[in-house]
Amino acid sequence: MRITFRFIGSLVVVVAAVAFFAAFLQVRQEKTKQQDELERRSRLLAESLEEAMEPHLGKGSSKTLERLVEKFGNRERLAGVAIYDLNANPLAVTSHLTTALPTAPLVVRESMEKKIDVSQFGRINNKQMHIYSLPLGIEKGRTSGALVLFHDAAYIQAQLGSIWRRTFWRVLIQTILISLVTLLLVRFAVGGPIAQMAEWMKQLRLGTDSESFKLPKEDLFAPMTREVATFAKHLHQAKIAVEEEARLRQSAEAVWTPDRLKEHIRSKLDGKPLFVVSNREPYMHLKQGRATQVIVPAGGMVTALDPVLRACGGTWIAHGAGDADWDAVDEQNRIKVPPDDPLYTLRRVALTKEEEDGYYYGFSNEGIWPLCHIAHTRPIFRPEDWQAYQKANQKFAEAVLEEIAQVDEPCVLVQDYHFALLPRLLKEKRPDARVALFWHIPWPNPESFGICPWQRELLYGMLGADLVGFQTQFYCNNFLDTVDRALESRIDWERFAVQKENHATLIKPFPISVAFPSAFGDIGSEDKAKMDRAALLKELGIKTRYLGVGVERMDYTKGILERFRAIERFLEKCPNYQSEFTFVLLGAPSRTHIKRYNEFMAEVETEADRVNWKFKTKDWKPIVFLKKHHSHREILPFYQNADACLVTSLHDGMNLVAKEFVASREDEGGVLILSRFAGASRELRDALLVNPYDVDQMSEAIRHALEMDSQEKASRMRRMRETLKENNIYCWAGNLITELAQIRLPQSLAAKGG
Ligand code: G6P
Repeated sequence: MRITFRFIGSLVVVVAAVAFFAAFLQVRQEKTKQQDELERRSRLLAESLEEAMEPHLGKGSSKTLERLVEKFGNRERLAGVAIYDLNANPLAVTSHLTTALPTAPLVVRESMEKKIDVSQFGRINNKQMHIYSLPLGIEKGRTSGALVLFHDAAYIQAQLGSIWRRTFWRVLIQTILISLVTLLLVRFAVGGPIAQMAEWMKQLRLGTDSESFKLPKEDLFAPMTREVATFAKHLHQAKIAVEEEARLRQSAEAVWTPDRLKEHIRSKLDGKPLFVVSNREPYMHLKQGRATQVIVPAGGMVTALDPVLRACGGTWIAHGAGDADWDAVDEQNRIKVPPDDPLYTLRRVALTKEEEDGYYYGFSNEGIWPLCHIAHTRPIFRPEDWQAYQKANQKFAEAVLEEIAQVDEPCVLVQDYHFALLPRLLKEKRPDARVALFWHIPWPNPESFGICPWQRELLYGMLGADLVGFQTQFYCNNFLDTVDRALESRIDWERFAVQKENHATLIKPFPISVAFPSAFGDIGSEDKAKMDRAALLKELGIKTRYLGVGVERMDYTKGILERFRAIERFLEKCPNYQSEFTFVLLGAPSRTHIKRYNEFMAEVETEADRVNWKFKTKDWKPIVFLKKHHSHREILPFYQNADACLVTSLHDGMNLVAKEFVASREDEGGVLILSRFAGASRELRDALLVNPYDVDQMSEAIRHALEMDSQEKASRMRRMRETLKENNIYCWAGNLITELAQIRLPQSLAAKGG
């Protein structure tokens, strides 16, 4: 309350000071105005009297003068009139002033001497008077005396007094009102929300269901609410982590959690920061009219790596591809992310349009991507794209070298096929760095890879790394076979290592994963609460009994056309599911400047249209294609309400959509239909595994999924969740970093004399 009183006290002082100052100015202005008015009236009156008086001066006709003085001396506010001769002796004075004026007022002599009218204020008969003296006879060239007018000026003082009194009352009333309003404001607008927040924090501390409490919504509290909510989220996560650790200690299990990973990395890297390099950035700033929107780009690599960096901090170096990216960074092109809860640094690298065309769209996505995915799209290898790829790798190398400049023996995790050359570029400049390259996509057999005109350069660049990771052992084997065929090197099949020019590269599988159990940890409980199936279908304008879902980056490797054909086949074979089953595809447009991707998008639309046209009724259709980028917040309700999730990639390194779906099914409901050609099928054996080229088999899998009894569903889902729990993304990062940290660098060998 003391603060409230101090606040009100200050307000009162300021209001009073302002009011009194305003009154002071008003009084001063009023006083001048009244005095000027009196002066003006005196002058007018004196001038009109002058004519009547002057002829009688110096003629000894004082009787006439006295008569005139008496006649004019009792007008309104005029307290009297007097006439003086040249020696300031009274010739005639209004009778009631005679005794009060034993001598002439000072202004009489002054006005005769200066030959101008002079006025002053003075007290006569205990009254405030205005005395005005006008020399007579000036116009005739000789002064013959003075005419003096006395005005009662007491009314001016009275008026000024009344202004001061009014001000006093106004200030008093204002002060009381302000105090009352402030008290009410503090009580309701500030006290209420603070009490609400305190109650919420108390519930949080006591561990009761704090989520049902509403945080204050007022703008004034927005920054505080945001901070407190983030703080609470961290507290909540820490609490869960501690409980989980305790539980794990008890059951002697070894599940990886963000905290465990953080500790692990701290000890493995001796407290040094972690560096990650990828083409795609984890947060992208996009212009949306005048505002800026931050999105998390679609794709498995970002989904996987962001939780790792959130857990252990560090720096992520990536291409700044968003059109508002460069407004958000500092002078070093860095920005702390996630934007609403900064946990690590994002260093953006700028590429020109030509570089992006050649390196990203061209060599990476029209060359290496189709080369590594056996999806029957021909790779295109243009020499100018290869040039751009080399230049871009060089450019990223410079950015990474800048970032690691101050760190001894830094650990750098290079991501994916965009950077096959980067490991060697880094190691050439910083042999003390530990560099791992993780290849997120498949590695084909040597014959397939061998069609690349620059396969030797790519392999040589990759072997600059100390560790090369793939999603499966199968891809590791393919890689070693490829190296064996293409390069002069020694392969140690026992250790799975390649020895080239005195440098060893370890080749190991690290199946990537999601942040189980909270794959959507960034979503608040408020949003989770809203996710009800009826509402979701209503929002989409769909009426259906069974819901199938697919979440894709619109890529020709994902088997989307095959999936549509399987849905068609299913509805043909099981017509009782017509009007009962709808498949929703959440498809994020991807790499849209590439012709093949453009064509593919059109093919998907045409195919969806064809199947819909065949079966649709007035208020039902089998396929809903939502073509846009969806945030985690938007995707989660679909996962949670789907009867089946369809992942039918023709070829896929891992596929994290399959894992996200499993992670989001706490209820152990829903069935996963999964392509045998996705890396995830090696781990998620309880999915319904399908060959996406086999339309009949896929349609049968859909039927099986919809008709599976809930017990079987639950036990399959439970087992898959167990697998994810043990092999989550923290486990992936923990294993990768353990392996990397164990690698002995040449200097340390030398130091040990080895
Ligand atoms: C795959 C790649 C990632 C890539 C993602 C999205 O998952 O392995 O490296 O980031 O696709 O593709 P984009 O071209 O949009 O980065």
